[in-house]
Amino acid sequence: MAKSIGIFDSGYGGLTILEGIRHRMPDYDYIYLGDNARAPYGTRSFDVVHEFTLQAVKRLFAMGCPLVILGCNTASAKALRSIQQNYLPTNAPDRRVLGVIRPTAEVVGTMSRTGHIGVLATEGTINSQSYNLEIEKLYPSCTVVGQACPMWVPLVECGEYDKPGADYFVRDSLQKLLHQDPLIDTIILGCTHFPLLLPKIEQQLAQLSTRNPQPSTLNSQPSTLTPQPSTIKLIPQGQYIATSLEDYLRRHPDMDQRLSRGGTCQYLTTESATKFRESAALFLHEEVNVQHITLN
Ligand code: DGL
Repeated sequence: MAKSIGIFDSGYGGLTILEGIRHRMPDYDYIYLGDNARAPYGTRSFDVVHEFTLQAVKRLFAMGCPLVILGCNTASAKALRSIQQNYLPTNAPDRRVLGVIRPTAEVVGTMSRTGHIGVLATEGTINSQSYNLEIEKLYPSCTVVGQACPMWVPLVECGEYDKPGADYFVRDSLQKLLHQDPLIDTIILGCTHFPLLLPKIEQQLAQLSTRNPQPSTLNSQPSTLTPQPSTIKLIPQGQYIATSLEDYLRRHPDMDQRLSRGGTCQYLTTESATKFRESAALFLHEEVNVQHITLN
């Protein structure tokens, strides 16, 4: 049996993490599991997200994965710590489960010049305050504000993310975030679905700059304080999770040696395999082989 790296998400979003990881580490074997039948997780309670995530982790362990990445911010925020502290030590002491919040927090503090960081994510991730806690612990001088974007995941899951109807919801959440803190110069896309909205986000930030020119623009004097929305750095997570995983495996050669290297990728979904195959093509730009499973 291949000893694959398991990657879990509530739906399709984790494919943006898988893509980043496979791009950097193509030789390993991977199993991607999307709990599409029960997505979205973003508005679900702590207990439910924990229960669903643990079921997925157990399935990936049963399929031989020594290492599972929760490629989902909501699951990382609500279930990771408890799985690491309560489940693994007694039930699977030789397996590891890693999340996506800590690796993102580690890089973002080095990217902001103003020290003002925004987070766009699901309601569950924002309410957990996980990003605020992680970033402010690593970079005490940084200020972090978050904005829940409840409509963004459905826009992506329904394939509406590049349609004109998405403009309103993208602009609305960006305005709410920047209203909380106009000094933000770096925004984490803290939900793995959001990279698909990147062109819309860039477009709306550019329009916000045009509509509300800062005094710096009017006076032709560069402002060091209030960044123009169009200059805000956007941080999708895939490449940073990939770098962080590579670093983790370098620091844990025992785990690295247990992982098989056949360059394969298997896809599992709790929804219909046909539906997953069609939608996954939007994320991966390739046809994939998918198997339907049930989780309980
Ligand atoms: N993609 C997931 C994340 O990164 C959440 C999507 C959902 O609400 O299920 O948070």
